[in-house]
Amino acid sequence: MGNPVSVFSSSTFFFITWLLFQRFANASLPCTKPIQIYHENPTTGVVYSPNWPDPYPNRVNCVYNLSTTASNVVHLIFSHFDLSPRSQRSHQCLDAYLIIIVVDRQGRQHIGDRICGGDQFERVFETMQSNILLEFVSYTNTVRSGFKIEYQFISEGSIRQPTSLYFDADRTYEAACGGRNEAGTHWGEITSPGFPLSYPKNISCSWLVRVDPSQRIYVRLIHLNISDIKECEFGVLSVANGYRHELNVQRRDDRRLEHSEAKFCGNLKFYEEEGLRSYITTGNRLLIRFKTGARTPLRGDDESKVGFKLIWTAINAIIDETSTGMIQNEPACNEFTCHGGLLCVEHGQGICQPKSQFCIDSSLVCNGVPNCAEGDFSDEFHCHSTEIFVSGGAALFCLLLVIGAVMCCERARRKSAIQKALSSSERSSSNAPKNGRPVWEDRKPRQPQR
Ligand SMILES: *[C@@H]1O[C@H](CO)[C@@H](O)[C@H](O)[C@H]1NC(C)=O
Ligand SMILES: *[C@@H]1O[C@H](CO)[C@@H](O)[C@H](O)[C@H]1NC(C)=O
Ligand SMILES: *[C@@H]1O[C@H](CO)[C@@H](O)[C@H](O)[C@H]1NC(C)=O
Repeated sequence: MGNPVSVFSSSTFFFITWLLFQRFANASLPCTKPIQIYHENPTTGVVYSPNWPDPYPNRVNCVYNLSTTASNVVHLIFSHFDLSPRSQRSHQCLDAYLIIIVVDRQGRQHIGDRICGGDQFERVFETMQSNILLEFVSYTNTVRSGFKIEYQFISEGSIRQPTSLYFDADRTYEAACGGRNEAGTHWGEITSPGFPLSYPKNISCSWLVRVDPSQRIYVRLIHLNISDIKECEFGVLSVANGYRHELNVQRRDDRRLEHSEAKFCGNLKFYEEEGLRSYITTGNRLLIRFKTGARTPLRGDDESKVGFKLIWTAINAIIDETSTGMIQNEPACNEFTCHGGLLCVEHGQGICQPKSQFCIDSSLVCNGVPNCAEGDFSDEFHCHSTEIFVSGGAALFCLLLVIGAVMCCERARRKSAIQKALSSSERSSSNAPKNGRPVWEDRKPRQPQR
């Protein structure tokens, strides 16, 4: 007997055993506990329905727990999806279904609808979260092959902003619709496409701002003029926490999530109260969306700007307003600490509370834009000495120029007046008017007769 044969037979034996084991492993898969798929680093992988590509078994309830570190997000791509269709009578997914549960940073579960055979849904499911649970349930025997779902754990640096949609026939401002900040930037300005002239209609632009995981983002609205009435039909600007999970499948708990989003419609004059024009994220991501309707937009002119403009700033920490005097408890600020100040609700009545004191990057000091909380200009305050010096110098130079010009003009005027006087006296001596009045004197308008 030769060696190759025994090698062959033993490998075949192992192969068959392995197959059987696989078979057995799959068959014993009524999924008694969640299938844990955890990767710390960005990666991709695939989850299959039990027995795939053979029909999935009867009576299973499988939970796939896809999770990664908090800075990564999970995306799903459905490459194959074949479950029993919806019941003809009740139109429900009764025989088998899959539920996508998105778990957000606070551990809240956002439970999607049941999906089953023949359903129309997005084949690519992109979240801003790092944990997704897939729950697969089957109740009947079937010949359906189940599903194959690719998962992607994507690092924070490569998260894209949500897709922008642009349906205006005039595509002039399309490039300004949506975007994301450059890595490492500490502040920025975002304006609506076409600002300050107008804005396109029927668009949905999305911007993603992402800063260091230890930072939060402060947003201040500078301009807003979408319409003159507080009416969201023309357009809505929404500013949301970038960790917020938007439910594509259902809108049931939208109300519960309202606090993680601020919406602005109409005009800035409707948001006069201090604090209404600003927003602070709970995490290091900010999502901004500008959606307009089909109504004809406003047109800006020399006096009024149309659209919106906002400024965002990365803040390292918020010095706790309530811990006044307890400096030990305050987070250390190694960069610039805004001065804060008092926010008084009713003037003269002493209803005041300390304003938030932000800790911001030192590079934002004297950048020409106030980056502290609303009404706190302390980051632009200390630069006034150099500014005054520069602008004072410029003003002095301008003054000298003006004086020089005035003197020059004055001299020229006098010169020409003398010449004029001389020439006219020459003329008058040869051709004097009969009444003897100087020729250059204006005639007084006649008083209207009453
Ligand atoms: C999913 O996995 C994460 C991380 O491994 C864990 O913290 C979480 O409890 C799991 N969830 C479920 C429902 O098993
Ligand atoms: C707005 O866009 C939608 C596509 O989402 C399109 O069906 C609709 O006709 C557009 N409306 C107008 C008034 O342009
Ligand atoms: C908004 O823009 C319109 C169109 O230019 C203008 O008539 C209106 O006065 C502006 N509103 C404010 C409050 O600036």
